[in-house]
Parts: sequence; C-alpha cells; structure tokens
Amino acid sequence: MNPLLWPRAELNRGPTSAGGPVDSATPALDSVRMDEGKSVTFTVSGCTVRCGPDQTLLEVAEAAGIPMPSSCRDGSCGKCRARVLEGRVDMRHHGGILQRHIDLGYVLTCCSRPLTDVVLER
Ligand code: FES
Repeated sequence: MNPLLWPRAELNRGPTSAGGPVDSATPALDSVRMDEGKSVTFTVSGCTVRCGPDQTLLEVAEAAGIPMPSSCRDGSCGKCRARVLEGRVDMRHHGGILQRHIDLGYVLTCCSRPLTDVVLER
C-alpha cells in the first residue's frame, strides 16, 4: 500500500481496535498522522493523504494520483474549484472564485494550503 494513501477508517483505528494488547513500541496511527503533518481526505476515492508543509490541495492530490482538474495553477481560472466539507485552508487566489462560492465552502485547490486536517468533496 502506498504509505501516503490510507483509507480513512485506518487512520481512525488505533492498535487496540482488534482487541489485542497495546504495543508501547508501536504508536497509534492517529499519533503518527499528527507528527507528520495535516491530512487531506478525498471523499470520492475515500483516501486520506498526508500533506507536506507547503503543499497545496492540488499538489497533494496529484502526488497521490487522484485526478483533479486544473489549468492556470495560480488561482485565476477557477478550474480547480472543489468544496471543503471539513477543516480550514489558507487560500491565496487571484480572482478565480466568487465570494458566494467561498461562502458555500468552495476553494481553489491550486492555491489553498491546509491549516487543519481537511475533507475535500472530490
Ligand atoms: S487551476 Fe486555475 S484557479 Fe486553480
């Protein structure tokens, strides 16, 4: 399994979920995730991907092989728009999204970096 792609259920399951003893040498998956950056969950594929410190949502998707439309990659065309269902991002766009779309939870993935763990409708 690609270590960047973990099904969401795996991230939420610690080593005791199978009913076995806790191995103190093996950290819970949640603590591993916390130590290695934010996560981005893509609802269509059901995959959760670890995010690098300065990666955009689009870069995270591309690195994981998750298809995502894009064009300008600087926040001006709007082609990469997707809706954030959970979490917060820092979006620095150049006019490619309307305020009413932002108010509905949409972001431009090419210029949005996670501030928290994010669930993306994509
Ligand atoms: S690719 Fe154009 S706004 Fe994101």
